[in-house]
Amino acid sequence: MKGKGIVVGVTGGIAAYKAAELVRLLVREEAVVRVAMTANAARFVAPLTFEALSGNRVLCDMWGPEAGAMDHISLGQEADLVIVAPATANFIGKMANGIGDDFLSTMLLAATAPVLVCPAMNVKMYGNPVVQKNLEVLKDRGVTVMEPGEGQLACRSEGKGRLPDPPEIVEEAQRLLSPRDLQGMRILVTAGPTVEPLDPVRYITNRSSGKMGYAVARAAWRRGASVVLVSGPTCIAPPRGVDFKPVRTAFEMRDTVFALAPRTHVIVKAAAVADYRPKSTADQKIKKGPRALTLDLEKNPDILAELGKTDTFSGILVGFAAETEELLGNAEAKLKAKNLDMIVANDVSRKDAGFETDTNAVKILFREGRMEETPLLGKDQVADLLLDRIKVLWEDRGERRRGD
Ligand code: CTP
Repeated sequence: MKGKGIVVGVTGGIAAYKAAELVRLLVREEAVVRVAMTANAARFVAPLTFEALSGNRVLCDMWGPEAGAMDHISLGQEADLVIVAPATANFIGKMANGIGDDFLSTMLLAATAPVLVCPAMNVKMYGNPVVQKNLEVLKDRGVTVMEPGEGQLACRSEGKGRLPDPPEIVEEAQRLLSPRDLQGMRILVTAGPTVEPLDPVRYITNRSSGKMGYAVARAAWRRGASVVLVSGPTCIAPPRGVDFKPVRTAFEMRDTVFALAPRTHVIVKAAAVADYRPKSTADQKIKKGPRALTLDLEKNPDILAELGKTDTFSGILVGFAAETEELLGNAEAKLKAKNLDMIVANDVSRKDAGFETDTNAVKILFREGRMEETPLLGKDQVADLLLDRIKVLWEDRGERRRGD
């Protein structure tokens, strides 16, 4: 979001306090944020709060000294995105019916930037047919409307009407700001570790956090792909918009991946699959005895190698290679042995790359022998770069199919 101009419109509902967090998150993503508030919103939260968080003067009053003569026209035309959060029933009604009686509503009438509306109100108000009709009018006009969340509302009632959590609004904003260049692509990403049980309370696993795979899934969704994320247990929430398939063992991961493979164009295997599993799983907790314990392990299926051989999948196959030594040699051997189109080699002995980090530096090897190295980047940036390369392979494969 670096340098993107975002106008946050805040209207007069109790969820206005959550808009402060939204502005903070957008600023953290390096967006340039201007806040415009209705007079009622300013009763809930002082404009000074938004001024401090955004670093810019807040626009409340058409006629006030903070608004330039043409700000109500230019702001929504120069911005990359306008977000209305929270959007009250009254404000949605004004937007749907072309009413401009204050700074924010007038600005929206002239806005040419994409608009994201995040309704928040009492459950009955949200369910009122007139509110629903107004939302439909907005959607038909190309406005993106986020579904409110369900739960306990500030008015003490239960149901649909909560403002979506600010990180979710940021996700949606990122999607709207991204190119939709992967539209039509069906991509399956595996992520995280697998866990192989020893008994009901113990298992064998590895240090994979799932961050890289989740970043690829998130970026692919933002760019318009239809995404399935098959994930072993991780501590991170599934990204918005992806079809999330939680699994535990390598066998579960294999079954899930193979069931979906025929309908998939691209498979990215970022998961750290356990190569071995305990030969037997005890039904009851294993008790300690007087002697040392030896575990018998047997090999797990190599899901990626099986995908490289099978007729079930004919799309683009991308693997990861987690290495602590001989990075390029080992990665190249895996690329060939598993019949991949591309492999992403990760030096997991580095402190700033690989497992559990937010950054990564990778070497990308292609089937035809090309190699590319990235600098140290955020995992989101690495994900976008990988998807740029995958897109070329996918388009090229499509072209060749058409030419067959
Ligand atoms: N992989 C897999 N199934 C396995 C092991 C690995 O699908 N049983 C996939 C991983 O998801 C990754 C690639 O194969 O995309 C390489 O995984 P990695 O752990 O680096 O290598 P291994 O093939 O397991 O070889 P080694 O552990 O000996 O390095």
